[in-house]
Amino acid sequence: MTLDITTTPNPSPKTDEEVAAILADPGFGSHFTDHMLTVEWTPEAGWHNARIEPYGPLSLDPACSVLHYAQETFEGLKAYRHPDGTVWGFRPEANAARMARSSARLAFPVLETEDFVQAVAALVRIDERWVPEAREGEEKSLYLRPFMFASESFLGVRPAQHVTFMVIASPAGSYFKGGVKPVRLWLSESFTRAGRGGMGAAKTGGNYASSLAPQAEAYAQGCDQVMFLDASEGRYLEELGGMNIFFVYRDGRLVTPATSGTILEGVTRASLIELAGKQGLTVEERQIPLSEWRDGVASGEISEVFACGTAAVITPVGELVSATESIATPEPGGPVTTALRAALVDLQFGRSEDTFGWTRQFA
Ligand code: COI
Repeated sequence: MTLDITTTPNPSPKTDEEVAAILADPGFGSHFTDHMLTVEWTPEAGWHNARIEPYGPLSLDPACSVLHYAQETFEGLKAYRHPDGTVWGFRPEANAARMARSSARLAFPVLETEDFVQAVAALVRIDERWVPEAREGEEKSLYLRPFMFASESFLGVRPAQHVTFMVIASPAGSYFKGGVKPVRLWLSESFTRAGRGGMGAAKTGGNYASSLAPQAEAYAQGCDQVMFLDASEGRYLEELGGMNIFFVYRDGRLVTPATSGTILEGVTRASLIELAGKQGLTVEERQIPLSEWRDGVASGEISEVFACGTAAVITPVGELVSATESIATPEPGGPVTTALRAALVDLQFGRSEDTFGWTRQFA
């Protein structure tokens, strides 16, 4: 199926001057484009009523079930302006596939990959002027946030019989306020993110809600992000509040926790694994005990540590802090992190050839 999308243009869009002022310093997640896209689902009609409308507030019944039982999934991907002025997405099919997996876990109907990509591309096309210029060294893009929620007004606990899928878009600079500089991680020893059979691999708001209290602890300790350990033994590294983690070994290995149902299957994570292979690194996806971090830094075997995600891109990790210790990365943002980061963003911004076939033209 392809979506039959109707369009109601925004009668009072932001002026070019207003857009330019926002794009000069977009921050992350604070400004939104002139339009939003909505598609609805019911068991009888399937996905229907696809429309692009002026961006604005939703009117929800107080009994709307997402407000009570959190049946929700979301995605994050970006549109990049290439040097020739065209606008491209990065692996939108991978986001569509992950949303389908999240949907299955959250008992939602699946939106087909082609519909997901069509929806995202349609919003980018109408709000194309919101995609920042590709200026050297800036890395600004248009962050796209597809999401699906239970929009039925019903307090019984069961999969919603009315579901809404939406896409909104927000110009983005660096996720962290300080730009690309090493971040400090707080090791959460009292909270975990996800247990076996839980929702850890699904991109659902609940996982992010549960990271907020540990994240607040991290801020209180002067850290930028929280690092979670596995829920069963509290021994193995999992992921950060909203990013995956990688370790660079001096012998040419790149090591990251295996996704085993409790970790988000990051699109950036998967892309870096492929890019690293091409750069001659040996990638290991496996369980990583916390002690390996401590010992690897002490012995000098681990040289770099970085976090990655769509929003964070690749962010060097400078230090892991816990109640009892601090493990400082020997070379945060060192040569391997820098080379992988450059390979990824050059491809995304169209400054290098896309030999993987990952980019899709949106406008
Ligand atoms: C993303 O990287 O797109 C996410 O959804 C993570 C969130 C911390 C913004």
